Amino acid sequence: MLGPPGSGKGTQSARLSRAFRIPHISTGDILRKLVSGKSPLSKKIKSFMEKGKLVPDKIIFSIIALRLNKKDARKGFVLDGFPRNLRQANRLEKIIGKGKALKIFNLKVSNRTIIKRLSGRRVCRLCGANYHIQFQPPKFDNRCDKCGGILYQRDDDKPAAIRNRLKVYRMESAPLIRYYRKRGSFVEIDAEPDEEKIFASIKKYLKNDLYKIKRRN
Ligand code: AP5
Repeated sequence: MLGPPGSGKGTQSARLSRAFRIPHISTGDILRKLVSGKSPLSKKIKSFMEKGKLVPDKIIFSIIALRLNKKDARKGFVLDGFPRNLRQANRLEKIIGKGKALKIFNLKVSNRTIIKRLSGRRVCRLCGANYHIQFQPPKFDNRCDKCGGILYQRDDDKPAAIRNRLKVYRMESAPLIRYYRKRGSFVEIDAEPDEEKIFASIKKYLKNDLYKIKRRN
């Protein structure tokens, strides 16, 4: 799942994961769990994330190799937040093998929508569920509907970090669009509408795969 920060990669990946019964692998979520520790590695990762910079490839490569090697990823997976630059795209090809089918969805949104979505996002401290104060508010003030955890605003959802994330996206991640467009199986999705509509567009391109996976499960 490609797209700028706030385009809805996490939201749509979680839906796909439920529909296909395959794991949702988000490097952002894995990293957020890692930074809750107190080790030197946690501190190092945190220093990149809170400024909206990319975490060094070396760390990302070991995280992703470990995760993709787990048993639950054998039938397929939804990748969210990886790859994020051309080096990571090359590494992904090496990990999964050249002949393996990748379907790339690129979520397209305006900067205005990005700012609105990111500045209103709230995340559960316990289970990581995402909310939005306007578009997806929790039932109870500042508490997660699923587990009752307290909701917080991500450090990188504050204005200075958002600006930096958008800059990093344009310089490092946007070139992936050309890279994958040339390789086929690349689908551009209008990510401005509501969640439901976006998911319906994505599913349209996955009809056959959904059928095959359901039969396998
Ligand atoms: P990561 O967590 O991946 O952040 P991101 O890519 O910036 O994406 P976001 O999570 O902000 O947005 P999203 O597109 O997933 O949108 P979402 O569905 O949440 O990465 C964070 C950091 O980790 C990076 O900056 C970097 O430091 C590091 N990192 C991660 N991967 C890395 C890698 N591979 N290499 C190096 N460093 C890496 O939606 C956003 C909000 O909008 C939510 O509140 C949601 O409820 C709402 N919303 C979603 N869809 C809609 C809709 N259709 N209508 C209205 N509201 C909506």
